[in-house]
Amino acid sequence: MSNQTHAAFQPFATASGLTLKNRIVKAVMEENLANADQHPDKALCNLYSQWAFGGVGLIITGNVMIDHLAMTGPGGVALEEGADLTPFKTLANKAQQNDCKVMMQINHPGRQVFKKMGGKILSPSDVALNMGKHSNLFAPPTPMTEQDIADVKQRFVTTAMLAQQAGYDGVQIHAAHGYLLAQFLSPLTNKRSDQWGGSLENRARLLLDVVRSVKQACGERFALSVKLNSADFQRGGFDVDDAKAVVVMLEEIGVDFVELSGGSYEAPAMRGRTADDRTLAREAYFLEFAEQILPATDLTLMTTGGISRLATADAVIDSGISLVGIASALAMSPDLVNQWHANPNTQGYIPKVTWKDKTLAGLATMGIMKRQLQRMSDGRKPKHNDTAFWSLILSQIKMAKLTKRYRKRYADEVNDV
Ligand SMILES: Cc1cc2nc3c(=O)[nH]c(=O)nc-3n(C[C@H](O)[C@H](O)[C@H](O)COP(=O)(O)O)c2cc1C
Repeated sequence: MSNQTHAAFQPFATASGLTLKNRIVKAVMEENLANADQHPDKALCNLYSQWAFGGVGLIITGNVMIDHLAMTGPGGVALEEGADLTPFKTLANKAQQNDCKVMMQINHPGRQVFKKMGGKILSPSDVALNMGKHSNLFAPPTPMTEQDIADVKQRFVTTAMLAQQAGYDGVQIHAAHGYLLAQFLSPLTNKRSDQWGGSLENRARLLLDVVRSVKQACGERFALSVKLNSADFQRGGFDVDDAKAVVVMLEEIGVDFVELSGGSYEAPAMRGRTADDRTLAREAYFLEFAEQILPATDLTLMTTGGISRLATADAVIDSGISLVGIASALAMSPDLVNQWHANPNTQGYIPKVTWKDKTLAGLATMGIMKRQLQRMSDGRKPKHNDTAFWSLILSQIKMAKLTKRYRKRYADEVNDV
């Protein structure tokens, strides 16, 4: 097959006019590489240059927090009113090299905040995370007031407008993986009886309000995406029929694309593991769910999870899904797309840790990948032979140092929880 005939290498234009040179998207990876002010610097610029020159058509940034007091992790990026946009502009320019486009993922963690970080731990209801024997890593959340909800909505809009001013091609609103907007969507975490809870229409209200408001503030020519779970993979949770209905609701507002993923901290399906005994495909985990949603919508769909071979990416596109997201394999080989151009049979690498303690295995897997992001940020090449054990230890030490830095920097504002 010549390069021209690979479905994944075909260009694509989104509804707002964003033109992508191919269908392959660097999916979101939180890097924990921000400076003490929670802003990007040289480290992230180095990393994003590698992805831009590595051949992807679009980079979606690591999740950027809309509130520096509600962080998914230490060393994360936050973008709020009054921020100096210079480092954000520099990072956008780096990501836009080599005809690559860049969107910023914007997020609020809700209850998925490590207790050690402190800060605001909000959720639609007071349902604490259940991580088995690791549950005490997280504090029970405070149910949100109307004022909290209005504040979060405004923050999403503000961060999106700042991203636009800083030259990003669009934003992606994170409503997957058990973060705040996903907590509103799921009947397991949203027990409210007001206009924000109960029916799916009510549970989706905050997401839809945020999307509508961002679109109104940023205009029709600014790309807008939503990352949504195709299912939570927890009994009684948000399921594929809910996802289908929410996609139809999003179609009425109009977004550029919906990225379909799955899972949460409690059921990390995005790493191929579920809590409701469902088995996921070995590759392209969410393709079968995306295929169930596809006939219900004309919206552009993207699916991310478990893609490391060009043949799989082509198969996703051939099935009618327009864009293919790749995270892990691009943490291990930032130039995987270039490698596919040179040799379409090149197999990307996704590290898997198969320890009995699934939580520790998950942390070790993330540790392996985050170490590669750090290497690339120092201008080094990623390694494929880091051990899981050392990656876990070293990543925990790093996270502890960054947490300490965060607590010191925001000592006046961050409360113990
Ligand atoms: C190190 C790392 C950090 C991640 N951070 C985020 C994040 O901030 N937001 C998000 O939507 N997904 C995040 N993800 C999930 C990926 O975007 C993706 O959905 C998931 O890893 C499955 O794709 P893959 O099999 O290609 O890695 C992260 C994944 C990794 C490996």
